[in-house]
Amino acid sequence: MEKFIIEGGNSLNGTVEISGAKNAALPVLIATILAPGVHTIRNVPNLRDTRTTKKLLEIIGAKVTFENNIMQIDTTNCDNPVAPYDLVKTMRASFYVLGPLLGRYGTATVSLPGGCAWGPRPVDIHLSAMEALGAKVDLASGNIVATVDKLVGTEFEMRFPSVGATGNMLMAAVLAEGTTIIKNAAKEPEISCLVDFLNETGAKISGKGTAELTIEGVNELHPVDFSIIPDRIEAGTFLIAAAITQGEITLKNVEPDHLGKVLEILEQVGAEIQIRQNEIRLKQENRPKSINAVAEVYPGFPTDLQPQLIALLSVAKGNSRVIDTVYNDRFKHVPELVRLGAKIAMDDNMAVISGVKQLAGGPVMCPDIRAGAALVLAALVAEGTSVVDRIYHIDRGYENFEENLTNLGGTIRRSD
Ligand code: EPZ
Repeated sequence: MEKFIIEGGNSLNGTVEISGAKNAALPVLIATILAPGVHTIRNVPNLRDTRTTKKLLEIIGAKVTFENNIMQIDTTNCDNPVAPYDLVKTMRASFYVLGPLLGRYGTATVSLPGGCAWGPRPVDIHLSAMEALGAKVDLASGNIVATVDKLVGTEFEMRFPSVGATGNMLMAAVLAEGTTIIKNAAKEPEISCLVDFLNETGAKISGKGTAELTIEGVNELHPVDFSIIPDRIEAGTFLIAAAITQGEITLKNVEPDHLGKVLEILEQVGAEIQIRQNEIRLKQENRPKSINAVAEVYPGFPTDLQPQLIALLSVAKGNSRVIDTVYNDRFKHVPELVRLGAKIAMDDNMAVISGVKQLAGGPVMCPDIRAGAALVLAALVAEGTSVVDRIYHIDRGYENFEENLTNLGGTIRRSD
């Protein structure tokens, strides 16, 4: 199993180009199923998860090429509305095929997802959304089997603004009979990106970026040439990497509007931040200050940066508290950070951190994608050598991670 060997102590300085957003690319790539023909999707990050999505589309019958961050997808002959277990278990986002397959074929067989290592990640909101649109949903030997003659528009209130369920329901509703209204919808930029994509293919969706999305069903959609938005979570990860090592970084190809709360929190921690059109510059002169923060749905501080923030605050001056209101059990990184000398106590979904001056390098293991990134950040500032194992989690969401960190002055290398 591959691991990173990291020598801590260097501050990170320089420039990094941000890739396309993984969590926008995955639903957009899968939504091409709804519009038969040849799509060109640009700024697609080259990750394990996007390569897995290519395989999933090919299993469904699409012809896909992927090079230079451009995916060409021919969905003319998608004739196999099935997402198999051995693929869905490696990537929860495969569950996104449910909406498009129901919308185009009136049938979908999708394995119940596995995905990240932390806690139960139910799909009940996805399923009740499909039932609200008229689908019959059954569970048969680990697969969700959904069938419908024709989806019919409806009004549906999400019990939680689930990103995935909002995406799935959007993709199901665009070809449904009549109008669908999704209330308490997710407002994440990745959902707005999906709305833009679907509207370009001929869908009629209004309310983008708000908690109420209205979809007028249409009869058919057509293929498009479309570009994915920048990855705000990759951007936030590098900003925190510069902050924790007291360096100075410039991010290029980034959308500052998607990072509002993140920049606010980092300024509270003592970072100086400047914004130009699609660039962000961060400078952290001194030891980070302690703060209290809450990870919540957009536009709040994102749960996908909660592990990285906890790593940063573990070396801050003073005590901090971080609560995650999206996942109350996304804290598998805490015991690993404690192995590096962090002082963190858990109280339900709140991490209570008393900052230490110095972490000490050692062997740690990535429990999931963002926790893995957090451990790398901690290792970059810890004294001595760290070995970060199971970095296949990191490869799911960060393209050229160690190359980017090396170019910024980090001492990190991949080894078998
Ligand atoms: C998306 O996951 C992201 N993944 C996650 O990023 C991200 O952490 C999450 O949104 C929250 O922002 C992709 O976009 C591929 P949710 P998703 O449905 O859609 C509960 C990463 O690191 N819930 O918004 O699965 C759920 O348990 C990944 O890139 C239900 O209870 O997240 C959670 O507590 C990790 N029932 C909360 O809602 C449901 O049917 C938010 O989940 C669906 C969700």
